[in-house]
Amino acid sequence: MTDKTAKLVIEGRDPIELPIYSGTLGQDVVDVRSLTAHGLFTYDPGFVSTASCESEITYIDGDKGVLLHRGYPIDQLAENADYLDVCYLLLYGELPDNTQKGEFKNIIMHHTMVHEQMHEFFQGFRRDSHPMAIMVGVVGALSAFYHDSLDISNDHHREVAAHRLISKMPTLAAMTYKYSMGQPFMYPRNDLSYGGNFLHMMFSTPAEEYTVNPVLARAMDKIFTLHADHEQNASTSTVRLAGSSGANPFACIAAGIAALWGPAHGGANEAVLNMLEEIGDEANIEEYIKRAKDKDDPFRLMGFGHRVYKNYDPRAKVMKATCDEVLGELGINNDPLLKIAMRLEKIALEDPYFVEKKLYPNVDFYSGIIFKALGIPNDMFTVLFAVGRTPGWIAHWKEMISGSYRIGRPRQLYKGHTQRDFPKS
Ligand code: SDX
Repeated sequence: MTDKTAKLVIEGRDPIELPIYSGTLGQDVVDVRSLTAHGLFTYDPGFVSTASCESEITYIDGDKGVLLHRGYPIDQLAENADYLDVCYLLLYGELPDNTQKGEFKNIIMHHTMVHEQMHEFFQGFRRDSHPMAIMVGVVGALSAFYHDSLDISNDHHREVAAHRLISKMPTLAAMTYKYSMGQPFMYPRNDLSYGGNFLHMMFSTPAEEYTVNPVLARAMDKIFTLHADHEQNASTSTVRLAGSSGANPFACIAAGIAALWGPAHGGANEAVLNMLEEIGDEANIEEYIKRAKDKDDPFRLMGFGHRVYKNYDPRAKVMKATCDEVLGELGINNDPLLKIAMRLEKIALEDPYFVEKKLYPNVDFYSGIIFKALGIPNDMFTVLFAVGRTPGWIAHWKEMISGSYRIGRPRQLYKGHTQRDFPKS
C-alpha cells in the first residue's frame, strides 16, 4: 500500500488524488487507473513515462548504467555464471545449486530436437528468405506440434513450454542458417554445452569431424547471457501484451521475435555491421557522424543510443571484452571493421551532439563484429539476439500469467472526424 499521493488539479474540477507507489529500487510510480472514472486518459506515446506492470525480474538504472537480473549485476553474471544458470535465475528467481543446475541442464539438453515434421516447414521458404521471417513462422508453428504445453492455466504446461522454447530456439536458429546455405540440418548433440551445441549445429557438416572450440563456445554462451533479458523493452512488452489475451506461449514468443526484428531494437546489430561495411574506411567516419547529426538525414549511428541508458550500456563493455577474446582466439588482429567501430566510438563519445544527447554504444554495437568473426552472416545476427532473449521473454510471460492480470488494452487521443452521415446518392 502507500501513504503518498499525487493531487491532480484541473480547472473547474474537484482535485483528483492519485496513489504513489515505491519499488525496492528505481522511480516511484503514480497510479492513474482511476482517471478513466473521471473521463480522462494519460497520454504517453512510446511509453516513455509509463510503468506497464510490476516486476521482480530485471532492474535497469539508465543514468548509472546498471543492469541487475534478480539483483545480480550483468558483468558478474557474465563472468561467473553460464547461460543456463542465468536462464534458471530469470525463470525461478535464484541461481541454481549444483543439483538444480544438473537437473535443469539435463531437461534443457533433452528437449533440443524439434518434431521431425518441422523440417518440412523450411521447404516452403525461399532459400534467400530473411532468417527472422523464417523464425517468426517456425517458432509460432511450435504451437501446431506441442499440444501438451499450450494450456496457460496449467502450471506444468507453462513449465514444459518454457523448457521447450529455451531448448529449441538454438536448434531452429541453426536450421534457419543451414537452410539458407543449402546444407543439411545438423541434429543437436546433448553431450555439448548450450553454446557449444549451437556452434556444432551451425557449423558442423556430415562430411567431416567438427570440434567445438571451447573459447568460442564460452564466448557464445556469454553473448547469450548479455541478451537474456532487459526489463520492459519493446519485444518483451509485445510478449506481455500478446500473453495478456491468453495466447499460447509459442505464439507470444513469435510475437516477441517479430517486434525484435526492427532496426530500432534487435535488428540494430545487423544494421551496425551493414553501417560499418558502408563506412568502409576510417577516413569516411567524419562524414557519417555529420549525417547522424543532420535532422534532415534519416541516417542514425546504429548501435548508439538507448531509451533508458543515458550512460554506457553495461552489456556493451562486456561485449567489447568478449570481442577482443574472440578475435584474439581466431588470430584476427587488425579487423578493419573493429578499427572503424573503435574509432567511431571514440569520435562519437567526444562529440558534443552525442554527449549532450547522452548517446552511448549499446549492446548491439560490438556484437555484430563477434558474430562476423565467428562466420555468422549479418542477417542471422538478430536471430541470435532472439535466442539469447528467449528466457527473458518467458520469465516475463510466466510472471504475468501466474499472477493476476487483465488484457492489455490502451486507449487513444482521437483526432479524426466527428460523426457524419453517409452521403445520400
Ligand atoms: C536495443 O529498450 C531496450 O532495452 C532495448 C534493448 C534490449 O536489450 O531489449 O536494449 C536492445 O534495442 C538497443 C537499441 C538498438 N537500437 C539502435 O542502436 C538504433 C539506433 N538508436 C536509436 O534509433 C535510438 O537511440 C533508440 C531507438 C535506441 C532510442 O530511441 P528513443 O529513446 O526514442 O530516443 P529518440 O529517438 O527520441 O532520440 C533522442 C534524440 C533524438 O534527437 P532530437 O530529436 O532530440 O534532436 O537523440 C537522437 C534523436 O535524433 N538520437 C540519435 C541516435 N539515437 C537517438 N542520433 C543519432 N544516432 C543515434 N543512434
